[in-house]
Amino acid sequence: MFIKNLYLKNFRNYTEETLCFTDGINILTGSNAQGKTNAAEAIFFLCTGYSPRANKDRLVIRTGEERAEIKGIAQSNYGDVSVRINFNKNDKKSVYVNEVEVLKIGEMLGCINSVFFNPSELKLVQESPEDRRRFMNLSLSQLSKSYFYALQKYNKILAQRNNLLKDPDAYLIRETLPIWDVQLSKEAAKIIKARNGFLAEIAPIAEEKHARLTDGKEKLKMKTESGYYGEEDEIAYALKEDLKTALEKDMRLGFTSIGPHRDDIKFTLNDTDVRVFGSQGQQRSVALSLKLAETETFRARSGEYPILILDDVLSELDKSRQRKLVSLVEHLQTIFTATEIDRTVFKNYLYNKKVIKEGKLKEQKTFAPKK
Ligand SMILES: Nc1ncnc2c1ncn2[C@@H]1O[C@H](COP(=O)(O)OP(=O)(O)O)[C@@H](O)[C@H]1O
Ligand SMILES: [Mg+2]
Repeated sequence: MFIKNLYLKNFRNYTEETLCFTDGINILTGSNAQGKTNAAEAIFFLCTGYSPRANKDRLVIRTGEERAEIKGIAQSNYGDVSVRINFNKNDKKSVYVNEVEVLKIGEMLGCINSVFFNPSELKLVQESPEDRRRFMNLSLSQLSKSYFYALQKYNKILAQRNNLLKDPDAYLIRETLPIWDVQLSKEAAKIIKARNGFLAEIAPIAEEKHARLTDGKEKLKMKTESGYYGEEDEIAYALKEDLKTALEKDMRLGFTSIGPHRDDIKFTLNDTDVRVFGSQGQQRSVALSLKLAETETFRARSGEYPILILDDVLSELDKSRQRKLVSLVEHLQTIFTATEIDRTVFKNYLYNKKVIKEGKLKEQKTFAPKK
């Protein structure tokens, strides 16, 4: 699928602008702080209902304005689909799919799919397990509404369970928890099963992408450490038993010490832990390989490639890796943002380049491949 049209009204530093994209390679260039990432952010918003910059929704409204609107029209195998979001000062946004309002964010997921990568995505490999769970949650939520709803339910029950664990009345806890745990394990099992499947699918692809990105010099291995396998009911049963065993500990801690909210993914390069021993460059390539693999998983599951948004990624790579990267993404719509580009990197491809200045499209041009 690819986004054809992006309309921005009072969104960040845009007053009113429409950007038209082509399938294949699109490049947004311009000096710093002109609105390149803002446009990329808007596309991601239309796919997921939230900002990759994870701010309060109202912050996207152009300073001094009351409302903002973004709208995207994407072409998919099933025809055109439009998503529109209206932002208000009170952080309540309205979402429309094909101009019909959807009342739950979950209903917009999967309409337009994207995979987003920017330099802060280094966190994915480097920082806390929470970032890696966020990665899985985001991907799986776009791929499956039932995952998204299971996750919402799980988080709600988990919060209630954690509250109860802090209750001074130990008798009440022992009486009430088993009821919570049946529900918690049931939702947890859906999440764990989906993540197990997702990782089993994405790991070999990420490993292959990484080998291509590094000319086979680095051998990536990915594994999950959830510790629960099998069918949903088996996972639910095992987890329920483990929750029982962990009860005394959880009561001491005042929170739930096991479950999918503690999952992690482990990455090794040539058998050493990337998180601990990897250089920044290696960690970046691993994160990039994972995102490239994610595009394949989307295609395998939904039947078409998502939009790939690579924000400020080129500047982080040397010329030869830039070339390699472009060759790895030419088959899907990719939106690059960059302060400047080296035309030789793109010379064999058809691409559209837009110059963004102060929240306006200043000029654009399509370049034909020189073969
Ligand atoms: N709500 C807002 N209202 C007006 N301007 C904003 C808002 N949010 C961000 N900006 C402006 O957007 C610019 C940054 O745009 P960005 O897309 O991140 O730049 P870049 O082109 O470097 O990617 C900054 O000048 C910032 O002040
Ligand atoms: Mg930027």
